[in-house]
Amino acid sequence: MQKSATQSFLELTAQQDFLGEIRAYLAEHFAAPPLAFVHSYGCQQSVYDGERYKGLLALMGYGFTDDPKNASLILYNTCAVRENAEQRVFGNVGALKGLKKKNPELVIGLAGCMTEQPHVAEKLKMSYPYVDLVMGANAFGRLPELLYRVLIGKKRSIRRDPSDDLTLYEDVPVIHECDFKAFVPITYGCDNFCSYCIVPYVRGRERSRRPEDVLAEVRGLVEKGCKEITLLGQNVNSYGKGLEPPIHFAELLRRVNDLPGEFKIRFMTSHPKDCTHELIDAIAECNKVAKHLHLPVQSGSDRILKAMNRHYEIGQYRELIAYAREKVPGITLTSDIIVGFPGETREDFEETLRLIQDVRYHALFTFIYSLRSGTAAEHLPDPIPAEEKSRWFRELLDAQGAIGGELLKDYVGKTIIVLAESYAPETGLLSCRSDGNLIVETEGREDMVGQFIKVTVTEAMNWALRAKTAE
Ligand code: 5AD
Ligand code: SF4
Repeated sequence: MQKSATQSFLELTAQQDFLGEIRAYLAEHFAAPPLAFVHSYGCQQSVYDGERYKGLLALMGYGFTDDPKNASLILYNTCAVRENAEQRVFGNVGALKGLKKKNPELVIGLAGCMTEQPHVAEKLKMSYPYVDLVMGANAFGRLPELLYRVLIGKKRSIRRDPSDDLTLYEDVPVIHECDFKAFVPITYGCDNFCSYCIVPYVRGRERSRRPEDVLAEVRGLVEKGCKEITLLGQNVNSYGKGLEPPIHFAELLRRVNDLPGEFKIRFMTSHPKDCTHELIDAIAECNKVAKHLHLPVQSGSDRILKAMNRHYEIGQYRELIAYAREKVPGITLTSDIIVGFPGETREDFEETLRLIQDVRYHALFTFIYSLRSGTAAEHLPDPIPAEEKSRWFRELLDAQGAIGGELLKDYVGKTIIVLAESYAPETGLLSCRSDGNLIVETEGREDMVGQFIKVTVTEAMNWALRAKTAE
């Protein structure tokens, strides 16, 4: 039986006890706080989970390092969405064997989506004997207990069944990678079962955080000076399912927008089947919501969309885009596309090319189909050779490169507000993001990082804009 309740992490007394034991153990065994290296692969949700793991590890008494060679604990927070992400993890774990040999006390752990798959956990158990801890994405709340078993019990802790804990943990300390931009999850899991996608199997059923919990987290971040909040979910548009009183994503967006402070609101990802006119109206009307819509289409062919189990047709998708362009003039549009889904023909692919020529996205995230075991598409006939798919993929990239470059030219001469994100002392350039999520480079100083600045665009490069400080 899966349970999906909200639970304060601070009230999990058993886990608090394990946490306390670990803290005492580390204080006794290390002269200075031992260091943890936490690395997250994959999507923003995974990055956020990594930040929560760091929050828990800090409570246990760990400090942090960016160099695995200095670490007493290495935790890889993994991604399962495509095979190459998994291969990278296996490669990187393989490279840790030498470190473990030099330092047998080193604890090596893997968490996240990849390890929710029983065959992956089994492979880690059998072929990677120096991996001590394997826990899935949903076993988050048991990290203290599992780590206790390894550190103090001196046993490997390898979880081979997918975890069925769908609890929404609140009051978890989070160590944010950046102090002016933060992710805030609003839903966990996914109920859509797109036929290519592993996420619903590894993350479990969709559940929504209570609006008051989301609002409290955003408020706290903004009070600490955070300038950009990205609301996260596999399908933010279905936010609210199962909540009492009922609430929809558009309403949540409006409530976040009403919080005091100067900050930008972004969100991802939107599923077109649940993207409503109300949501687009909210984007138009909420002054803090970025005028950007990432609306993954995946394919331009109705036949392929049906086989992908996406539940919309391309005509409906085009209608949404037209509505967004009408209501939010100048809105930036981006999308995800999969090339080479099983059974996709050249004609289907050409429909995708036609769609992107018509919509003219600012940017696309493009992927070659990757077979995921256990998904509905796993056994579909897939006759197109990999080289052919790669050719289509390059064709798509070339077409999009030209469109994206053209669209950037429209910004030359415009004065816009951007958030400065990083500074390169070698060039004296700040790298910034526009409201529409475009990269803007401008001259500036290190102390401007994390601030909104007003710039005038002077030049469109292929992938970014050049600007100068506006008067
Ligand atoms: N193969 C290729 N791309 C995939 N995506 C999800 N699953 C797969 C897969 N099996 C892509 C989709 C999704 C994005 C996050 O990753 O485009 O929107
Ligand atoms: Fe995967 Fe589809 Fe869910 Fe996105 S909406 S996580 S693509 S199943």
